[in-house]
Amino acid sequence: MTFAPKVTFSDAPKATAKATPKKSAAGAVAVAVEEGRKLGPAAQRIDAEVGGAVSRALKVSRFTGKVGDHLTLVAPSDAAYSRVYLYGVGRGLSDLQWQDVGGRLAKALNGDGEKEALVCVDLGAEAAGDAAADVGYGALLASYRFDKYRTKEKVSDKPTLKKLAVESAEPAKARKLFKEREAVAAGVFFTRDLVSEPPNVLYPESFAKAVKELSDLGVEVEVMGEKKLQKLGMGALLAVGQGSRRESQVAIMKWTGAAKTQRPICFVGKGVTFDTGGISLKPAGGMEEMKWDMGGAGCVAGLMKALAGRKAKVNAIGAIGLVENMPDGNAQRPGDVVTSMSGQTIEVINTDAEGRLVLCDVLTHVQRAYKPQIVIDLATLTGAIIIGLGHEHAGLFANDDELAERLAAAGVASAEKVWRLPLGDEYDKQIKSDIADMKNVGGRPAGSITAAQFLQRFVEKTKWAHIDIAGTAWSSKDKPTVPKGATGFGVRLLDRFVADHYG
Ligand code: BES
Ligand code: MN
Ligand code: ZN
Repeated sequence: MTFAPKVTFSDAPKATAKATPKKSAAGAVAVAVEEGRKLGPAAQRIDAEVGGAVSRALKVSRFTGKVGDHLTLVAPSDAAYSRVYLYGVGRGLSDLQWQDVGGRLAKALNGDGEKEALVCVDLGAEAAGDAAADVGYGALLASYRFDKYRTKEKVSDKPTLKKLAVESAEPAKARKLFKEREAVAAGVFFTRDLVSEPPNVLYPESFAKAVKELSDLGVEVEVMGEKKLQKLGMGALLAVGQGSRRESQVAIMKWTGAAKTQRPICFVGKGVTFDTGGISLKPAGGMEEMKWDMGGAGCVAGLMKALAGRKAKVNAIGAIGLVENMPDGNAQRPGDVVTSMSGQTIEVINTDAEGRLVLCDVLTHVQRAYKPQIVIDLATLTGAIIIGLGHEHAGLFANDDELAERLAAAGVASAEKVWRLPLGDEYDKQIKSDIADMKNVGGRPAGSITAAQFLQRFVEKTKWAHIDIAGTAWSSKDKPTVPKGATGFGVRLLDRFVADHYG
């Protein structure tokens, strides 16, 4: 996390304190301005410290103070600050909007080459701690970079922000809240790192090795190689990996934060470290994107890091199926019939519908080994979900309404939204096979739903949800708290889901 600024929290000076520029102050300062250009106590203080430059700038600009409005001014030469950033807060911000403020400021500060900044959260005590923590969290999330393979980046292109001091009426509360959010951000960054790695570096074994590091946080990690998977009977998962030089792996991460008697929540992730399509080969254009076909597994690993990092009082199991889908003399063929761990047979019509073959065996294993109260799987499963929902929502499928509603609510609260799609017998008929228990594709109509139907055939009387993140694991444009590239989608969503309902 060398890219991330150090975030600290300080008390706002008393409103009665005389406005004298602190000569020790360094760097930039950011202040909130309400709609109608109203300056709060901190903004008035800063305005005095820079000789009224803030009020003068407001007079001659179109800045209104609406949410998202921004104005940057260069402070007068005798001021203690280099620049003053004004950010609009309208008539008050939600916690997600405070995170966006932090994200936008971090981007602006880095763009301007600022090293240090003070952010004033001009609020009364009840909300100030939360808002300050969210500003810090947003700035942290926005500062993520994956630059380990750049050797020639110009200094002028590198981020500069080292320290962000957030001033609020409740610094102690802010510090405490920020510590939890920081743990979640560390989980998000772990996911983004895994998803960003190129496929020659991140393959099943190196992925498994990376998650072993979670044992430092008290997560128990078990890694199973092909011999063990064979013994367990994971014929579907192994069939996907049999065309690869890389050995398939399943990694299990256990976090025991509650009483041992509490049945765990299991999170299952698709970890196809590269998806060529196999013998049903994908077209060359854009195939490099299939390095992030392990986004579900990356999310599960990051979530476990977040839960352990903030010592969540929950029992959680993360289980990831790690394979590489390659065409090869030993690769599976369209027409092959494979036997899954559940005993059900599958006719492989299209080797590019491999994610469900990986997930089905991991689903069977976790249900039998851990008797979970809930199973939630995440996968970059279908291109069809991008056609249906674009990049704004992930697809949600569930066999339980309460579970679906809780996930949808956690999505709204965390800015990682999901949209529920239906399941049903009529869809299930699409995956009937003439020679086996089922086939692995259901034709073009409702492609995301038939993929979910396939998974549901491996669900054994447990509450289950499936989240198709093919449209949300990677982003081609910057958002305030999510730089383009690997988004880490799902970590904040599921951390929130756990925090809201399971301690
Ligand atoms: N990994 C892909 C799905 C995908 C597509 C993820 C685009 C991210 C972006 C998956 O393995 C796949 O190839 N699915 C096929 C299924 C089809 C053969 C039934 C698809 O969506 O085309
Ligand atoms: Mn595929
Ligand atoms: Zn895939």
